[in-house]
Amino acid sequence: MTERRAKGTYYITTPIYYPSDKLHIGHTYCTVMADAMARFKRLQGYDVRFQTGTDEHGQKIQQKAEAAGITPQEYVDRVVATIKRLWATMEISYDDFVRTTEPRHANRVQKMFMKMYEAGDIYKGTYEGWYCTPCESFWTEAQLVDGKCPDCGRPVKKMSEEAYFFRLSKYADRVMELLKNGVFLQPESRANEMISFIEQGLEDLCISRSSFDWGIPVPIDTDHVIYVWLDALSNYITTLGYPDECGEEYKKYWPADVHLVGKEIVRFHSIIWPAMLMSCNAPLPKQVLGHGWLLIDGGKMSKSKGNVVDPEILIDRYGIDALKYFLLREYTFGQDGIYTNEVMLKRINFDLANDLGNLLSRTVSMIEKYCGGVVPEATFEDEFSKELKEIATGAADKVDDYMDQFQFNIALDSIWEIVRRANKYIDEETPWVLAKDPEQKDHLDSVMRNLAESLRIISILIVPFMHTTSERMRDQLGISDVDVVWEDAFQFYMLPENTKVHKGDQLFPRLDIEKELAALDEIHKKKLEENK
Ligand code: ME8
Ligand code: MG
Repeated sequence: MTERRAKGTYYITTPIYYPSDKLHIGHTYCTVMADAMARFKRLQGYDVRFQTGTDEHGQKIQQKAEAAGITPQEYVDRVVATIKRLWATMEISYDDFVRTTEPRHANRVQKMFMKMYEAGDIYKGTYEGWYCTPCESFWTEAQLVDGKCPDCGRPVKKMSEEAYFFRLSKYADRVMELLKNGVFLQPESRANEMISFIEQGLEDLCISRSSFDWGIPVPIDTDHVIYVWLDALSNYITTLGYPDECGEEYKKYWPADVHLVGKEIVRFHSIIWPAMLMSCNAPLPKQVLGHGWLLIDGGKMSKSKGNVVDPEILIDRYGIDALKYFLLREYTFGQDGIYTNEVMLKRINFDLANDLGNLLSRTVSMIEKYCGGVVPEATFEDEFSKELKEIATGAADKVDDYMDQFQFNIALDSIWEIVRRANKYIDEETPWVLAKDPEQKDHLDSVMRNLAESLRIISILIVPFMHTTSERMRDQLGISDVDVVWEDAFQFYMLPENTKVHKGDQLFPRLDIEKELAALDEIHKKKLEENK
């Protein structure tokens, strides 16, 4: 077995979600990508830190709590419990879950505020402008679209109050330079958007509010609470001890490698966040990646439209791995994608039930039938087996390259190239014909071995995306007690001698698409009724 090489550290974050409602499949999409990346880097031997959490302050939450007749803290406690349950169900492998109401965070946000204040970057003034409460965003008159929030299209409110400001304008040039370096913000189209945003003039940012009190108090003036985005963005670094003690954790993981965020919050992460860190004189994160949205009927999912897809329903019916595979395989990073039940069901049937499931069950059955269940030696090579071997042992490098670019869909397709090639290999070699001729025993054995080796490699490569399916495969392949080592995916003939296969259940039962579509519609209707 190959030695696992020690790599560096890798710190990846998701946005911290607003616990204003239950999360939907759009939020799940981002967290599933981050989880796959964290698992991928761990598999490669990196010391990974994967952080997620909840963004619990702000006017929207306060209003929601009032409407529910409970305190904001009670309100967020309830929703956060559902969020944690969802991530537990989905086996999301986060290392830290930060809640912005935790003292470890709140105290340090105040200290960061003071650092910015002491740097001369915070001053008192009057705020006049438009505020979008659902987005917790301030807008100038000029930024509004048809008098509404340019991000979400909802109505905005005129605001005028005494407030503290952050000298964002002071950092315009440095942030511009950062955005132009070609690395910091991806995809490039987002960087160009941000560059033209700054070119239109970067105004100082209002960073306090006094019209409500659900927030972290401004340390120098407790009539004000700190603007929720200043509070929220800091989460990525406060959990490492900053600015209190910059000990072990901080030294190991800061600066973060990747902040994974949705496209509508790229502006906060690529302009405001670096400027805050510049003011604090702290190192900047290495990269911000903006992903697209999952749309339904061309629009964004929202509770009010009643078009929210609940991941828990899908997991209940099809399992975690099917949902994760679908999300990662179907959509192209950085672009919007349309969700439909039909597209999802087809992916599960074609890629998982047919292609992968059949490859495993056919292979294990044949090894049981022709080789007494013991994986044989390969002593014979033909053109077909050379090609299969080349594709199977070459896939890990491709997966590595595509993962580096967050192209989960192409990374997965590189793995499915092995699946498709191996299925074709069975048809080309026709083992059932070889089995009739005792003189073809070596040939038959070699075909069986090559198939088992391909499946072994697949079982390693899919770990970041579907670790349970990997375990189930390895169980049937008879290697459940062999360590999963990334480097073993680069070579053939790594199966231990006398490996014994065991036929098990189908990995993914074939779905009746029409029936499932009807069932999902039924569930959806019932939910709408319940919510009326
Ligand atoms: O913005 N498709 O929280 P949030 C894809 N608290 N992604 C989607 C989506 C969809 N349909 N709907 C939502 C916040 N998202 C802040 C973040 S970070 C310091 C603070 C994504 O709960 C969205 O793009 O409104 C965003 O990245 C994330 O969910 C959090 O949304
Ligand atoms: Mg949002």
